[in-house]
Amino acid sequence: MRLVLLGPPGAGKGTQAERISREFGIPKISTGDILREAARNGSELGLKAKGYMDKGDLVPDDVILGLIEERISSDDAANGFLFDGFPRTIAQAEGLDRMLSSRGVTLDVVISLDVTEENVIERLSRRYVCSECGRVFNLVTKAPARKGLCDACGGKLIQREDDRRETVAERLRVYNEQTDPLRGFYRQRSILAAVDGNGTLEEVYGRIRREITRGISP
Ligand code: AP5
Repeated sequence: MRLVLLGPPGAGKGTQAERISREFGIPKISTGDILREAARNGSELGLKAKGYMDKGDLVPDDVILGLIEERISSDDAANGFLFDGFPRTIAQAEGLDRMLSSRGVTLDVVISLDVTEENVIERLSRRYVCSECGRVFNLVTKAPARKGLCDACGGKLIQREDDRRETVAERLRVYNEQTDPLRGFYRQRSILAAVDGNGTLEEVYGRIRREITRGISP
């Protein structure tokens, strides 16, 4: 099964992707997570990417496509995967098409998580992430058991650099300009499923699950 989760910053892609990955047994491939990990390690890629990310801009397409090509060639992606935050431009979607067709496979479903701008801003202002392992929390909807500390590894919880109000505004602008057109791109191929991403974590997951099951049944 090959899936894409599309949606604006803070739509809940990463949160829902964790659960889909567990239930359907496919790896979650998040370009944002890969880039943040590279930045934490201080690699050349990480340092280059950080400059774009901290401003809310997109990392260049050729860098992202190189990462994806390498990642989907891993053994654990042989039977499928779930993209979170990729593709993000028409050029990335076309690059992905080329990679998949050279492997003789296609995407099954593209889930578009639609969330109001008001909800996005509220969710991001309350999001905290672990500085050590990257796990995501929310002060209201997914609070850690111990204040300021990660449930998984005990690391310190911090706010993401790009969750500052002015950077969120820029990320939303970039999303509307460069990523939103992908909905039309995939709708034309009849693999787009628009899902209401407002509501509780459980409600949203139920809607996504229905679309995935419908999209992969014969
Ligand atoms: P990336 O990490 O992909 O960020 P994003 O798309 O902006 O998405 P977020 O991670 O902010 O949000 P999310 O939708 O995953 O929401 P979450 O589940 O955390 O990209 C970051 C940067 O990397 C980009 O700006 C760019 O520079 C670069 N980049 C990455 N991929 C790229 C690519 N392909 N091309 C070029 N550049 C790329 O949820 C948010 C919060 O809300 C959490 O606290 C969560 O607990 C809470 N929450 C979730 N769902 C609900 C709900 N239903 N109700 C209440 N709270 C909820």
